[in-house]
This record gives sequence, structure tokens and C-alpha cells, in this order.
Amino acid sequence: MGHCLDTSSLHGAEVGRQKLTNSLRSGFLGSKPTKSRAFLRISPVKHPGRQQSCNFRCSVIQKSQVQAPDSVTITADNKRVECYGVFCVMYDLNQEEQPKTWKKLLRIAVSGAAGTISNHLLFKIASGEVFGPDQPVALNLLGSERSRNALEGVAMELEDSLYPLLREVNLGIDSYDVFRDAEWALLIGAKPRGPGMERADLLDINGKIFAEQGKALNAVANQNVKVIVVGNPCNTNALICMKNAPRIPKKNFHALTRLDENRAKCQLALKAGVFYDNVSNVTIWGNHSTTQVPDFVNAKINGKPVTDIIKDKKWLEEEFTQTVQKRGGVLIKKWGRSSAASTAVSIADAMKSLVTPTKEGDWFSTAVYTAGNPYGIDNDLVFSMPCRSKGDGDYEVVPDLQINDWLAERIKKSEDELLAERRCVAHLIGEANGYCDLPEDTMLPGEQ
Ligand code: LMR
Repeated sequence: MGHCLDTSSLHGAEVGRQKLTNSLRSGFLGSKPTKSRAFLRISPVKHPGRQQSCNFRCSVIQKSQVQAPDSVTITADNKRVECYGVFCVMYDLNQEEQPKTWKKLLRIAVSGAAGTISNHLLFKIASGEVFGPDQPVALNLLGSERSRNALEGVAMELEDSLYPLLREVNLGIDSYDVFRDAEWALLIGAKPRGPGMERADLLDINGKIFAEQGKALNAVANQNVKVIVVGNPCNTNALICMKNAPRIPKKNFHALTRLDENRAKCQLALKAGVFYDNVSNVTIWGNHSTTQVPDFVNAKINGKPVTDIIKDKKWLEEEFTQTVQKRGGVLIKKWGRSSAASTAVSIADAMKSLVTPTKEGDWFSTAVYTAGNPYGIDNDLVFSMPCRSKGDGDYEVVPDLQINDWLAERIKKSEDELLAERRCVAHLIGEANGYCDLPEDTMLPGEQ
């Protein structure tokens, strides 16, 4: 990484320390711990097509005796991503617990970072819960013009939490800056459907956001970035994002259906009178919408088919299925807003599932690109299916699940819904002849 630093105003000792900082930065948390205190952290800004500049604000570099950094804020005239407050400081690595055992810094970009879901999620990631106690993390937080203050509020709370693994927090309102070098991109920010808004309008408004973010990821993110789309309608938003990021493997794009899987497990556990960790092999098929199919046919409780434990077929086919499909809406009625904490938990679960080997015989649900899928789903959708991972960030779709007529009919309905959504956003995925003929009952889980 290059640096933009004017050392002319620094005293000799400061320059020495600056050099030290620069060398540390290039091997940050690598194999060269030092006894000297390194104190300065800056976030270099590079932008395709923009001249690299050295004038962004990180006031610590102007002080001869640095005790504590000033907070660095994003300002109206400077929209670039910048380090925040204490995260502009580098720490004495020898003071850290076994720094040599730490892995290389992992950069995670989050959109909608000032929102309620992020407010739960960021603290889980920073604590080490997701990537483990030996994985230092950098958080690049994307907000909007409107959420500037809230974004800084989030950064302040992260500062005050003193997480040892959290090495950088960078704030920005331009996805081209915030997504730079990201190895994970958690795309949470999206517009909710407003009163009287047609679903086609929602698809168009949010689709444009995800097309733009796809382009930004394509331009500046790590080539193997893993992308999890949460903003609704998340399957089609993920498809749009993917189509606008041809440099990134299509396999790397996910839409979040783990929340639905968690909801399904909870309902099955309740009915069977067991704790939910006894429920496994639950698949959500299809769209994160009311056409999603929570699969009780292949699910297990204590290693036995759910249908051996819960004999009430009518409950499984009707009440269970609809409860999971519409859980988001019921929650909105209770809370007055969409689920946030449980969504954050499920995003963390989704990431953990990709960086932890899947338990033998089990699988998890995530909506992924369908090319070459073993279930005969149209090859150009983002569709929730059963997957397993070796823990390397990659996954494979689990083949050979039993698809009985009941499942097949419902999976088809969800596929049809996604095909209709795809036609609606043809203009955003580089296809001609789009038209919007959404089925009337096409709804997000939160819409009833
Ligand atoms: C959820 O499933 O809780 C959300 O996707 C609901 C919504 O429509 O925002």
C-alpha cells in the first residue's frame, strides 16, 4: 500500500517513528513485532481515475508529540473514506496477546452501516465472534450523506468498546472508497418500500443502488471478495450486483436466507419440544419472500427425519410453512420496524458457515448463483439452496435432497417469482426486452 505523507514538518525523531509506522503498515500484524511504540495510522486513499492526493485529514500527523489522535470525520468537502479517531493510532504490537499468532488483517466493508442491523452486527464482528480470536479486522463503513453523524456515532461506540481485534474503522459515503480491498462486503443498506410504492418501483430503486455497488466492488474490492446481500429484495439485488461485477467470481455472491433457516429451526424445535440445536438439515429454497420454501421434508431432529418426530403433516405443510414465510411481517407489527438483531445474528451465522467446516452430514441455506445447480432451477438466478463449506470461504451446493411433489410445486412458484423479478430488472443486468409482470402475491416477508 502506498502512503501519502508529508514528513517535511516533522522532527527527526518523528520521521524515524514515521518510517517505523510505514514499515509496520506494510506488514501490519505480520511477523515483525517491534518494541517501539508505533502510533500513527492513516488510511491511504486511491481511486480509479482520480489523482492520488495527500491532503486528507488525519490531524495526528501534524503533531510533534502525539498522545491521542483527534477524531477524523467525514466532511462535506471530502467524501473519501477515512480512519476514525483511535483507529488512526497504531499500537505497540508487543503489548498485544501473542501478536505473532494473529492472522493477516481482514477487511470487511459494510453498507447501511449506520442502520439498526449493522449496529448489532458490527460489534459481533469486532468482538471476534465471527472470524475467531486470532483474526484482526478492519471495518470500512459505508453511510449516506444523511447518516454522517450516525456513522460517526457507530465509530465512537466501536472505539469505546476497546475490542483488541478491531484494528481499523474507516468511514465513507462513496462505495468506490469504502469497498477498496474489501475481502467481505455486507450489503445491508437499501430503501424500504414506501406507502403506495409498487414492488416494481422498489426493485428499480434498490436495483440501481446494487448495480452501482456491483460496479464499485468490481473496480476496487479484493478479487475474491465474498458478498452477502441483505437489502431487500435481496435475491434479485444480489443478481444485479453480481452482473455488474464481472471481475468477481459469480459464486461469491450470496443473498441472505439464513434468517429464514433460523426461523424455521426455531419453529420446528418449538413444535417438537426440543432445544433448537437438535434441529439440523433445514433448507430454505428460493426467494427471501413469502414464496420461500422452508423444507421440512429433508430436515432432521436429533438425526431423525422431522416427519418421524412431528407427525402432524397438515401443521408442517400449512402452519409451519406460513409462519416462517411471514415471520418478518409479524415481527414488523410487534416492533414497528424490520427485524434487526436476529438479522444481524443470521448474517454472522452466514459468514461463520463459510469460514467453518460444515458439520458432517449437515448443510446450511444461502441464496447463491444457480449456474449448473443440481436441482434443475433456471441457471441464471440467485436462489436459496442447501450448501456446505470446507471453511475456506467457498461452498458447494449439496445434491440429492429428496424433492417430493409438495416441495417441487412450491419451489417452482418461488423460481417463477424470481424469474419475474429478473425480467423486471433486465435494464440493470445488461439485458434487453425486460418487462414487469410480477405475480400479484409477490411479497417480501415483511409485507402482508
Ligand atoms: C425479514 O425477513 O425480517 C425482513 O426481510 C422483512 C422485511 O420485509 O423487511
